[in-house]
Amino acid sequence: MKRVDDFRLRFGKQELVPIMIGGMGVDISTAELALEAARLGGIGHISDAMLPTVADRRYDTDFVKEKLKQYKYNIDNSDKSAVKFDLGQVAESTRLHVSKTMEAKRGSGMVFINCMEKLTMNAPRETLTVRLREALNAGIDGITLAAGLHLGSLALIEDHPRFRDAKIGIIVSSVRALQLFLRKNAKLNRLPDYVVVEGPLAGGHLGFGMDWAQYDLRTITLEVMEYLRTEKLDIPVIPAGGIFTGSDAAGYLDMGAAAVQVATRFTVAQECGLPKDVQQEYFKASEDEIEVNTISPTGYPMRMLKSSPAIGSGIRPGCESYGYILDANGNCAYIDAYNREVALHPDEKKISVMDKTCLCTHMRNFKCWTCGHYTYRLKDTTRKLADGSYQVLTAEHIFHDYQYSTDNKIVLPA
Ligand SMILES: Cc1cc2nc3c(=O)[nH]c(=O)nc-3n(C[C@H](O)[C@H](O)[C@H](O)COP(=O)(O)O)c2cc1C
Repeated sequence: MKRVDDFRLRFGKQELVPIMIGGMGVDISTAELALEAARLGGIGHISDAMLPTVADRRYDTDFVKEKLKQYKYNIDNSDKSAVKFDLGQVAESTRLHVSKTMEAKRGSGMVFINCMEKLTMNAPRETLTVRLREALNAGIDGITLAAGLHLGSLALIEDHPRFRDAKIGIIVSSVRALQLFLRKNAKLNRLPDYVVVEGPLAGGHLGFGMDWAQYDLRTITLEVMEYLRTEKLDIPVIPAGGIFTGSDAAGYLDMGAAAVQVATRFTVAQECGLPKDVQQEYFKASEDEIEVNTISPTGYPMRMLKSSPAIGSGIRPGCESYGYILDANGNCAYIDAYNREVALHPDEKKISVMDKTCLCTHMRNFKCWTCGHYTYRLKDTTRKLADGSYQVLTAEHIFHDYQYSTDNKIVLPA
């Protein structure tokens, strides 16, 4: 029976272990986690979500404080259109995070950055341009375009000196999304270096509606591979979402996938950014404690633990500090939901908002426990300790389990 290590992902002359750890915002897929994947010969992702606040936490900058100081006057105003990002600070936070990560890189693998189009930051084009260009300037090995169709994203960097040398991939959940991307970018004469096909069992936001359960990764992956074959396009296809064991992964590689993208298994790694107590919540979760809901103001369904503190939370919108989801006109669905509840309950100090959440604040504070469908199997990947808690794993252990295991077995830690 084949195992993942029997395969290699090829980018030109470079050969990699065909395991890619997916981007997990906000700093859940840390530099430390991505660097482990690279050291072990695979690909890791850092995330470009909310980098000004990530930089404050990691590199002692004061970007959030400075933004809040500038816009404090607007906190009680429901119109957030004036709350803009300082592009210099966005660039500086990206430069810091990417360059410090790349300086620490060891081994033969690669570190990519996950870049979500839905982080529109009250100036979609301008902020995305800065984020993409600065990541390239700071030496990132590759960019994975995520959470959006990215029809105009490549054009924003086509004149960058690294446009053809850095790896660039796109995440899609259907052939149609891939067709649109390829058609729209045909004139740039630059195909993506890889396509991640993300199915409905993934963590984070889903590229499906609430009918996600009607789709399956295997079928969509085959459709994408078939489409590329008919178009005579030789682009590596990388399925993602619910690939839980090395054997699951080997099955996709045997089917013709170039690599797999995985994430959920690594949410319980020491190197992962989730706080230790939250990792225990992931371990403990049972299948009926995981749901796909519509509380994300982005409009995409999102999978998370039902016990996430973000659900039902009625905090004041944090746009003056954060504001990453504000659209081109300064709107966010949470602001509307919050204002509606405030108007309905004028005398209440603490209100509850059920239909949307302040995603920036809650992702920043690890209070939105987004996770993959198979999170309920994480308890089977480790040992229970004497105090009743579950043993956190090393990223190396999980990576090697994917790389070497057979027969759907999962090796427990020593
Ligand atoms: C906690 C968590 C956060 C995630 N955040 C993001 C994200 O910020 N951007 C993104 O493109 N995908 C995100 N994802 C999706 C993963 O990158 C990956 O494609 C997917 O979860 C793989 O499926 P698996 O978790 O079943 O292995 C996230 C997944 C998890 C588990």
